[in-house]
Amino acid sequence: MSRIFVTGGSGRLGRSVVAGLAEAGHHVISVDRDAVPAGQLPAGAVQETADLLAPGEAQRLLRETKPDAVIHLAAIAVPFSAPEDVIFSTNTRLAFAVISAATEIGVPKIVTASSPTVLGYGSPAGWLPPSFPLDERTPAKPWNAYALSKLIAEQTAQMFAAAQGERIRYAAFRPCFVISPEEWEGAPTQQGHTLAERLADPALSAPALFNYVDARDVADFLDLLLQKMESIPNGETFFVGAADALATAPLADLMPRFLPGSEALSAGLTGTSPAFSIAKAQALLGWQPKRSWRSELKSHPTLNDETSTLVTAGTGAKETS
Ligand SMILES: NC(=O)c1ccc[n+]([C@@H]2O[C@H](COP(=O)([O-])OP(=O)(O)OC[C@H]3O[C@@H](n4cnc5c(N)ncnc54)[C@H](O)[C@@H]3O)[C@@H](O)[C@H]2O)c1
Repeated sequence: MSRIFVTGGSGRLGRSVVAGLAEAGHHVISVDRDAVPAGQLPAGAVQETADLLAPGEAQRLLRETKPDAVIHLAAIAVPFSAPEDVIFSTNTRLAFAVISAATEIGVPKIVTASSPTVLGYGSPAGWLPPSFPLDERTPAKPWNAYALSKLIAEQTAQMFAAAQGERIRYAAFRPCFVISPEEWEGAPTQQGHTLAERLADPALSAPALFNYVDARDVADFLDLLLQKMESIPNGETFFVGAADALATAPLADLMPRFLPGSEALSAGLTGTSPAFSIAKAQALLGWQPKRSWRSELKSHPTLNDETSTLVTAGTGAKETS
């Protein structure tokens, strides 16, 4: 059992990370500006309400709680949801404040959340990758303040890793479009649509290149990452996504409709293949996502029929019954 300090623990992803790590037997200290109602805090977790941008606050809480690991999630998590300069300064200052305070105190394992958007897809000036599937070697070309702030969060972890050598272990991860448990039941996703709507209209998932991940799979990934951080290279970055695409047709067919010029590049994305590779997390950590929209949506009676129809009409590559 470890003591794990999770920033942004009240958020869409944070709630599942706190719950998953507590369920795995860790003592979790959830730190967020907003508290979750006391009844919703899982056994094994405590929460602290704090503004981590307030001077000295991250350091004070870390000194008081003495964690074995820090997972930094707190951020403005939606591109263009605030003025660009506010997103840039909030996210970069939060990452620096938390990672530097944890380093100074000597927390042995420090992990920060990045985002697949660092790659630069969706740029109004056009974007094409060198190849599909996208992976950690795909060049980062952020085109907005959110994506740039996430790349800087990764580089902040790498900067401290370079300065500390092997004394402290650092990692960054890029979670795909996060689906929290209630969203499988019909709650709106981060962009406001339900999952059924995103599946029914590929134009809704195309801006994220049809990526997604179950928040509980991210919690499992983080638990495994913390266990393995001492035996993998320091300062690594990982994509964390589902093993399939959030689409009912193969991306080889869908991608060219939404990403002009990608016909040849995406020709290999057949069947249920996602655009983002998770091979690095599989190879270095042995992590495997357990949930897919094909398994999770099935449990909801009102979506069951619709989803089955969509899957049958789509790839046909996976049975849903
Ligand atoms: N949700 C996604 O699809 C997604 C995808 C890729 C990356 N991410 C990253 O994962 C992380 C979590 O995302 P999320 O969807 O849970 O976001 P969220 O907005 O639901 O949660 C972020 C939390 O951070 C807290 N926070 C913000 N500023 C703070 C401050 N100054 N002090 C203390 N707490 C503060 C907020 O109160 C909020 O609870 C973010 O870093 C985000 O960039 C999310």
